[in-house]
Amino acid sequence: MKALILSGGHGKRLRPITHSQQKQLIPIANKPVLFYAIEDVIEAGAEDIGIIVGPNKDQIIETVGSREWDANIEFIFQGDPAGLAHTILVAEDFLGDEEFIMYLGDNVIKGGITRHSDAFRDLDPDSLVLLTEVEEPQRFGVADLDEEGRVRKLVEKPKLPPSNYALVGIYFFKPLIIEACKNIGPSWRGELEITDAIQWLIDNGHRVEASIVEGWWKDTGKAEDILEANRLILDEIMPKNEGVVRDSKVFGRVILGKGSIIENSTVKGPCILGDGCRITRSYIGPYTSINNNCDIEGTEIEDSVILEECSISNAGRIMESLIGKNVNIRENGRRPLGHRLVVGDNSDIVL
Ligand code: G1P
Repeated sequence: MKALILSGGHGKRLRPITHSQQKQLIPIANKPVLFYAIEDVIEAGAEDIGIIVGPNKDQIIETVGSREWDANIEFIFQGDPAGLAHTILVAEDFLGDEEFIMYLGDNVIKGGITRHSDAFRDLDPDSLVLLTEVEEPQRFGVADLDEEGRVRKLVEKPKLPPSNYALVGIYFFKPLIIEACKNIGPSWRGELEITDAIQWLIDNGHRVEASIVEGWWKDTGKAEDILEANRLILDEIMPKNEGVVRDSKVFGRVILGKGSIIENSTVKGPCILGDGCRITRSYIGPYTSINNNCDIEGTEIEDSVILEECSISNAGRIMESLIGKNVNIRENGRRPLGHRLVVGDNSDIVL
């Protein structure tokens, strides 16, 4: 089986972080979101993985290449982000005549996808889609199921949803989906929708099955989703200490990376601190991920995701925050007191 992982798009809802970084590379518990998808498809048996890349392709190629993977990985360039079904047409040569998993690279799901790939093999349909119950189905593709649990109809972002079952961004396909993608036109948002391609299968007498996701699932499209996915992943970490703890209190499940030092501080898990970090006279609270080479001094941080190379000093209390790479936050020690800000476009600051 092959896998097609989507890692293009502009990530507009995650600006300003995505001005400089592809959204699928934002780390959750210090690991890029995209890596969770790659691990899941490999675990489900994919030996050849095609990763769809867009404008920031070099970042993706470099980051994915920084690790060894137990599969062949190739990168497929999608010029215009013209929809999920369009990526299948762009990947037509790679996909050939094989069954494949399509996985949106900004999705994270608890427990992987082997149960669903087993269902695809056992039921042997033309497509199997993963569904989960959500509170706001209008924001997703929504499925209407028949009495036997097969998919009767799919609608993208419906105003009047036929059910609460949203399409999770993980799909299994037989090669027939390529023909389906060639036979649909753009939607109201100008994209070739995968939902319409799957509906084409149903309308042409082919079988589409559903597999229900029982644990949690997150589409990390917005900052609050990144923070929530971070909490869910940190809830499952095992403690590991490869650094140094001096004159400090460390409670709960904490991962401390190589060369990191915690000094005169309190750290309460679950949280993860990467390699080469220095935490001094600070409090790091639950559900915090601090990436490599950050220097935190005299500050309290809780329930937040901090990317690498940040320097935060005497900054009061930071919570529910997503902070990009190489950010410098420090106390204004001079008069007049006030916030002095040099902030990028589309930032969101709550003081
Ligand atoms: C896409 C799909 C939608 C699905 C969602 C899951 O939406 O079109 O059917 O429910 O992913 O994340 P998009 O993220 O393009 O709005």
